[in-house]
Amino acid sequence: MSAINQYLTTHAERFEEELCEFLRIPSISADPSRAADMVRAADWLTDQFRRLRFVAELIPTAGPPLVYAESPNVPGAPTALVYGHYDVQPPDPLGAWVTPPFEPTRRDGNLYARGATDDKGQLFTHVKGAEAWITVEGRLPINLKFLIEGEEEVSSGGLERFLVEHADRLACQCVVISDSSQFAPGVPAITYGLRGIAYYELHVTGPRQDLHSGVFGGAVMNPANALTQILSGLIDRQGRVTIPEFYDDVLELSAKERDGLASLPFDEKQFFDQIGVPCGAGEAGFTAIERRWVRPTFDINGLWGGYQGEGSKTVLPAMAGAKFSFRLVPHQDPVKIKAGLERRIAELCPPSVRWRLIYHHGAPAVLTSPDSPQIEAASRAIDYAFGRRPVLIRDGGSIPIVTEFQQRLGAPALLLGWGQEDDGAHGPNEKFCLADFHRGIQASARLWEELRK
Ligand code: BES
Ligand code: MN
Ligand code: MN
Repeated sequence: MSAINQYLTTHAERFEEELCEFLRIPSISADPSRAADMVRAADWLTDQFRRLRFVAELIPTAGPPLVYAESPNVPGAPTALVYGHYDVQPPDPLGAWVTPPFEPTRRDGNLYARGATDDKGQLFTHVKGAEAWITVEGRLPINLKFLIEGEEEVSSGGLERFLVEHADRLACQCVVISDSSQFAPGVPAITYGLRGIAYYELHVTGPRQDLHSGVFGGAVMNPANALTQILSGLIDRQGRVTIPEFYDDVLELSAKERDGLASLPFDEKQFFDQIGVPCGAGEAGFTAIERRWVRPTFDINGLWGGYQGEGSKTVLPAMAGAKFSFRLVPHQDPVKIKAGLERRIAELCPPSVRWRLIYHHGAPAVLTSPDSPQIEAASRAIDYAFGRRPVLIRDGGSIPIVTEFQQRLGAPALLLGWGQEDDGAHGPNEKFCLADFHRGIQASARLWEELRK
């Protein structure tokens, strides 16, 4: 291992430079005008694997290509599949960035750029962990398959279709994913659960066109009023979703797990202070951590209708709309929720307007065993690189394909997040702590050896 550590130290700066190259490519999956940049990012990654003498290819999908690479065969050794995503979220609000999102910049020990933590910087740690082995030892301790997609941020449609047809190619003993966070600075974590999601858009339409709100208001239902009635009716004062069947399949927390989460070093007041809100909120009877990780939610993600310009305008808008999503927990079914939601909207919507619901995408929650041999191996690798054993956590975000992996490959997911909660993923000034980047590489290199034991 010392020769590998030596290699990691000697090449640390080049690793950062290469990550910067990767981060300069604006691979925004939500933006159709970036299709060529998606291919550029995929090509760039493929080249990284070919330099390691991996067999690497671009697999076309209806959207951006998948990058798939296999290490030279190590007979008799186990196989790990490394999953990550090279697509990033749109960088707006652009004006809030201190330095431009696609011009990676080092500042106070961090690297700032869109994708720095989510997920280019994190996935790249595994490429460099493998590189160290190949260059220093001429081989890896185990077999590695890399599958890096370009559609995670828009729900992984192409990968899901690939997986249905080609699960056999991906056969492995575990799926390694670094696309989440540590518990806190200095407190590394392994994540054994993620929430799922069901994402919708609702349109409410009223009169044929916008009307004078003085001449017609009061007698004609205002679609924006109706929309807010519907949306506010979806959640009650206790913070519970009012769809009758919504909680039917929810896996409740065991007393043991509840104690485990309560024992994490978490300061609620400091947490809300840092976010900048006066106090917490949410479902009655649960702690902030439970509300974020193990309870389902309803959140409006976007809302429009009526006049948004300068000054005031007295108008009764012809339509209003919203994008909203539910975060789901084990064992809620994202598809099953739709029928109950439609019945509830029909109940809540006044008869004097029309509504239309669009389903965007969904994915179930993830739960893995918190005490598998792989978790033990990863804990040793993290201890080695971060100087302390990881805590076991769940998280509130979603990685849509993980449940598919677990089901179709029969292999557990190993969620090893190197990021921090305040990295600004999806927001302005996204960053990745460079020390965490290098510790992640070292943990990755060590992990391949630990997984062979
Ligand atoms: N890496 C995140 C998910 C995540 C964040 C997991 C923090 C654990 C901790 C991922 O890139 C993401 O943002 N997923 C989306 C999925 C959605 C677009 C279907 C999410 O959670 O909103
Ligand atoms: Mn991600
Ligand atoms: Mn993301």
